[in-house]
Amino acid sequence: LLSNSRAQNLLAKSEYRYEGKSLSALLEESLKNQKVFYDPIRLLDGRSRRLDVELGVWRLLDEDQKPWGVLCTIDDITYRKMMEEQAVQDEKLVYAGKLAAELAHEIRNPLAGIRVGVQVVERHSSSETDRKLCETIIGEVDRINLLVENLCHLTRQRKLQKTLIDVAELYQEVSLLYSKIAENSHIELLSDAPPGILLYADKSAVKQVLINLINNSIKAMKTGGTIVMKARAQESRILLCLSDDGEGIPPEKMKAKSRNGGMGLSIVSQLLQKNDGTFRLESAPGKGTKAMMTFPR
Ligand SMILES: Nc1ncnc2c1ncn2[C@@H]1O[C@H](COP(=O)(O)OP(=O)(O)OP(=O)(O)O)[C@@H](O)[C@H]1O
Ligand SMILES: [Mg+2]
Repeated sequence: LLSNSRAQNLLAKSEYRYEGKSLSALLEESLKNQKVFYDPIRLLDGRSRRLDVELGVWRLLDEDQKPWGVLCTIDDITYRKMMEEQAVQDEKLVYAGKLAAELAHEIRNPLAGIRVGVQVVERHSSSETDRKLCETIIGEVDRINLLVENLCHLTRQRKLQKTLIDVAELYQEVSLLYSKIAENSHIELLSDAPPGILLYADKSAVKQVLINLINNSIKAMKTGGTIVMKARAQESRILLCLSDDGEGIPPEKMKAKSRNGGMGLSIVSQLLQKNDGTFRLESAPGKGTKAMMTFPR
């Protein structure tokens, strides 16, 4: 048996098994029984690492058509297989994304109907408790709207449209958006931005960043509290800061990787990056959380 070093390397990986057999055992079996493996074989080691190979067996004939030997090829196709599977996975994700965007779109219309309807009922109601109930419903509807908007944003690959944004105005818009929700959760949303601070960025992206941050703050302030949206112009940059006095984030959760699960902050980092902004979180349990962003001026 003659073999090259690449084959020897693969054959030496005896910890990888397929139906309990190592690659060299499989090859031997194939040679002995003239068994042909038409499909790629997946071998696994004990730690769920994988080795995908294609085994090829060719009988060689000499000039007189007499059997002369057998040529075996082993193709390590692990990487290709992984890429193929990734592609299928990505396609699924794209499909799920499209579905989500359609669904989000479809949800928004009936929500708007519900909101108007409840507002009308609220106006006509003479009972204080009923009115309060209506307000709660409106607040919750607004919350669904924000979630849905978030979802749309995720799936939409929009081109950035950078304009000059008046930060104080933006803060006001966001405050308005959250007025009912804030009231319902006993949260005060304050804006501390001198007039005339201008930011050159995509407005809906920055708005989305604020929305994600505020959503997190609200979640962290179960019994109410204060959120401050601050803006300052420095020599070469614009500083935005959103702080809350919620429960804060424990140190082990501060690393981006260990926050797992949530989408909010990774969308925030992505959007800021696209707008030449930087992002930093400062937080400790019981000390609240500060999200700091800078933009070039
Ligand atoms: N202001 C905050 N105060 C306390 N904890 C926070 C704050 N912001 C983020 N966190 C912590 O970081 C985690 C990750 O936040 P992120 O916004 O990425 O995801 P999420 O809020 O859990 O989910 P999603 O935003 O997708 O609804 C949160 O679950 C929370 O534990
Ligand atoms: Mg979040």
